[in-house]
Amino acid sequence: MAPDSGPFPEGPLLKLLPVDAKDRATQRCRLGPAALRALGAHLGSVVKISLPDGGSCLCTAWPRRDGADGFVQLDPQCASPGVAVGAPGSRGSLNLSRLRLVPCPPLRRLAVWPVLRERAGSAGSPNPAAVLEAAQELLRNRPVSLGHVVAAPPDAPGPLAALHIVSGVPSPDPAGLVTPRTHIGLSGVSPSEAEPQPEVPLGGLSEAADSLRELLRLPLRYPSALASLGLAVPRGVLLAGPPGVGKTQLVRAVAREAGAELLAVSAPALQGARPGETEENVRRVFQRARELASRRPTLLFLDEVDALCPRRGGPHQAPESRVVAQVLTLLDGISGDREVVVVGSTNRPDALDPALRRPGRFDREVVIGTPTLRQRNAILQVITSKMPISSQVNLSLLAEMTVGYVGADLTALCREAAMHALLHSEKFQV
Ligand SMILES: Nc1ncnc2c1ncn2[C@@H]1O[C@H](COP(=O)(O)OP(=O)(O)OP(=O)(O)O)[C@@H](O)[C@H]1O
Ligand SMILES: [Mg+2]
Repeated sequence: MAPDSGPFPEGPLLKLLPVDAKDRATQRCRLGPAALRALGAHLGSVVKISLPDGGSCLCTAWPRRDGADGFVQLDPQCASPGVAVGAPGSRGSLNLSRLRLVPCPPLRRLAVWPVLRERAGSAGSPNPAAVLEAAQELLRNRPVSLGHVVAAPPDAPGPLAALHIVSGVPSPDPAGLVTPRTHIGLSGVSPSEAEPQPEVPLGGLSEAADSLRELLRLPLRYPSALASLGLAVPRGVLLAGPPGVGKTQLVRAVAREAGAELLAVSAPALQGARPGETEENVRRVFQRARELASRRPTLLFLDEVDALCPRRGGPHQAPESRVVAQVLTLLDGISGDREVVVVGSTNRPDALDPALRRPGRFDREVVIGTPTLRQRNAILQVITSKMPISSQVNLSLLAEMTVGYVGADLTALCREAAMHALLHSEKFQV
């Protein structure tokens, strides 16, 4: 069954390449001449990119140095919270229709919520004036977008790990430019309080959600209490199930509910081209999770983790073995960390290296299967709850007819039906 491809009509597919070292922390998106022409973009035009996992990032358009078409490289320095680190493209490609030029007026005011670095040996929180100065420095001449997070480069000095864009005048939605005349202020309200994230309605997943919630609730809510009791808390949960059953959405929903910071990373997007680049990317992700955890309990979500940690032992697998070893070391390191929980998701649990599933790593597993009749019924109820549907539609019958359909298929089915209804009424009006 076709996976849910979202509301994006087909367009040319661009292969997603890792960002050049020189472009890191520049917020640039490198495109070939044909893509730039198709978008109508000039050098530095502001582009909003919808990522396949539902997030987005804001970049400026730049031509590729080699002038080649069919590729895209992007530095996701300003992106929605879950995708701030390298998650642009679940399978290494991005449709051009996901890129959109957006207006970017200069901002008069901007309110930001700072995420501070945890610094060894430093007592107390840093001086607000120093934080504000670092925020001004980080945002200088940048386009920003409401609800996005601007990440500070990992090697940058200063107290800031990242900035949440909370509000602005005019509202930076979809984008606004920070200029030397923008008045930047630190917000007293955390972004989750200021702007509740939209609920992702999920049906038929209550059992899986309960197990996941139970595994995450204690470590995320009471990290210090558990540490002081000397208890070993589960730090890693593996979520397994076929494609489209709602694994990714479930983790997002549970993180939101627990009030945890979510750092969602698509594992295939961490693959680097250079030797050692993948390990470096993985280290940066774990480092970022630690930084975020200095502010709030953090859930590090490694989506499609099998791409990063395949079973070792086959011939010609030296690079993969090094990546697996690196992930294992980082997972072991994080078990001593107070406020980070790692969730991995996979639809091929057997393809994972067994060492990953040993105690202290991904030692808990939640399995989501293909929905049963009752679950399909619940999913259809949830999907259609906000749709005006005819009284003749029998959802129970539909659930009976859709054996083998997962949540993504049922969503696609309902969307198709809505499109048909639209076309039908359009014909009727003409
Ligand atoms: N139980 C459900 N209730 C409502 N919608 C669902 C459900 N399961 C999946 N969906 C829909 O399917 C889409 C895809 O779900 P999601 O990306 O979470 O699947 P996944 O299990 O992570 O798949 P993959 O293994 O391919 O990454 C979601 O955006 C959602 O609209
Ligand atoms: Mg997924």
